[in-house]
Amino acid sequence: MKSIATPTRILEIEGLSARYGHVEALRPVDLHVDEGELVAVLGPNGAGKSTLMNAIMGLVPTQGQVKFRGRAVPRRAPAAAAGLGIVLVPEGRGIFAPMTVAENLELGAYLLNDKHEYARRTARVLAMFPRLKERLAQTAGSLSGGEQQMLAVGRALMSEPKILLLDEPSLGLAPRIIDEILQKLGELNRQGLSIILVEQKAPLVLKLANRAYLLSVGSIAAEIDPRTIKSHDELVQYYLG
Ligand SMILES: Nc1ncnc2c1ncn2[C@@H]1O[C@H](COP(=O)(O)OP(=O)(O)OP(=O)(O)O)[C@@H](O)[C@H]1O
Ligand SMILES: [Mg+2]
Repeated sequence: MKSIATPTRILEIEGLSARYGHVEALRPVDLHVDEGELVAVLGPNGAGKSTLMNAIMGLVPTQGQVKFRGRAVPRRAPAAAAGLGIVLVPEGRGIFAPMTVAENLELGAYLLNDKHEYARRTARVLAMFPRLKERLAQTAGSLSGGEQQMLAVGRALMSEPKILLLDEPSLGLAPRIIDEILQKLGELNRQGLSIILVEQKAPLVLKLANRAYLLSVGSIAAEIDPRTIKSHDELVQYYLG
């Protein structure tokens, strides 16, 4: 008899908290992502969304535990987290403006020592973002905002992440470009990539997400099943409590 497949956790977070001096930016938070899920983290300015992403990566001092496929992710060791396949596209993109598009992509695969595999990954990223292909020799700083975001995602993909964390990729972009980027993220997710997508613009991502957490003043105020949210108004109700 076939057993019913139970989802397996790719990421499990227990009692994760972070503070900046007296500011308790993240109260102990529990959340999880199953293999292949796209999980949205929603919340207004200052809710602690970026702190949560940085805390998962170990970029800020934290208390609590982060487990990747059942194994503890070392704290304060972002390179170790990245080595496990946990990769963050940070708020503001974090690309290197004076370097070319090609060099930025190369940085994403700095651990890779296999030319063949490097070429395969580059081809895959450029097929996903053809605009980058036309601009490989251009400096990253000369790209449009949307192209820079594509580069940031492309660079992250060069490391073949197991779970991709994206901190407000829509920030400052025109609606048409946001749609284009979200569509690519949906594609990546359908190909099996687990994703955490941080956004303020909830209606945009609820169409894409399997589940969503609402963060408010450093705590998880609600876990949302996107299928149950019918309108923006309903979501605003959530925000207001
Ligand atoms: N380096 C820092 N030093 C002191 N306080 C900080 C620091 N970074 C963030 N904070 C504070 O921590 C809280 C959470 O900030 P965080 O950047 O995580 O929020 P956010 O949800 O990502 O907001 P936004 O939507 O504006 O990006 C805020 O009150 C912020 O002022
Ligand atoms: Mg933020």
